[in-house]
Amino acid sequence: MPANAQPRPRRSALYLPASNARAIEKARGLPCDIVVLDLEDAVAPEAKAGAREAAVAALEQGGFGHREVAVRVNGIDTEWGAHDLAALARSKADAVLVPKVACTQDIGRYHEALEGAPEAMQLWAMIETCGSVFNLEPIAAMAASTRLSLWIMGTNDLAKEMRARLTPQRTPFLPFLAQAVAAARLHGLTILDGVCNEFRDLDVFEAEARQGLEFGFDGKSLIHPAQVAPCNTVFSPDAEELDWARAVIAAFDLPENAGKGAIRVDGKMTELLHLDQARQVLAVAHQIAAIG
Ligand code: COA
Ligand code: MG
Repeated sequence: MPANAQPRPRRSALYLPASNARAIEKARGLPCDIVVLDLEDAVAPEAKAGAREAAVAALEQGGFGHREVAVRVNGIDTEWGAHDLAALARSKADAVLVPKVACTQDIGRYHEALEGAPEAMQLWAMIETCGSVFNLEPIAAMAASTRLSLWIMGTNDLAKEMRARLTPQRTPFLPFLAQAVAAARLHGLTILDGVCNEFRDLDVFEAEARQGLEFGFDGKSLIHPAQVAPCNTVFSPDAEELDWARAVIAAFDLPENAGKGAIRVDGKMTELLHLDQARQVLAVAHQIAAIG
């Protein structure tokens, strides 16, 4: 699969505590592309075992339609991690999302823990530790030899570890976000931006989602139903982008442009690389149209 191509839209990934039955029911009807049932940070220690059972039961029950369903497990070295992984390996989850990855060995251990799982089950990883900052490329390279297929940025945990401030502009994290996107693209991973904790102010949310789009993220992780629609809008090609894509494709199709590498479209230099981008825009639009 070429870098930056993915088989389905992954604009919006909504987290919810797996212990929250009402939220699970609600998620089945929300227009998010991905549902992440959380067993980790959003679940208190005394509720961990019940949340695990609830997640497996929800997967068994289904009803999530076109949405991919992932379960975020507790870390493999916590007292719940091994139980979570064993239960999920036998479940109907599309993906197991693993937290606090710091090095290639971490991915290797999670991959092994899913050894008996269905072949289609993917391994997704949270990128949220100081260790991962220095190992982005080797961790991404694990996609070639393991189930690893997607990253989610964990900006809250990273801010905690770095003792940095998570401001609306996210200045302390920008170099890291760009590096992570580059590493993911290099190895064909899908990459989703971190959450915006501000779920009441959708202007703040939208600005952050747009920043993620500009950085190249495929989508964003979310914590509240109100964030889903604006997130989908930001990460869907808009009318202007679609017009541009169609114009570029039409221009390169003209007989007088046959065999040319650089042409003029709407007064701008347009190269074959832009033709690739234009096709990618239309491919994403088709994927979105296909899920209704
Ligand atoms: N997924 C699905 N439904 C959700 C939801 C979510 N993440 N968050 C809230 N809802 C539902 C509520 O159940 C409620 O449903 P109802 O009106 O039918 O009863 C409705 O949306 C409105 O919720 P609201 O009152 O605005 O939010 P809240 O104050 O109850 O909860 C949070 C706020 C942040 C605690 C909650 O949104 C949440 O738990 N988010 C996910 C946290 C998480 O998973 N974190 C881990 C990753 S960082
Ligand atoms: Mg975290």
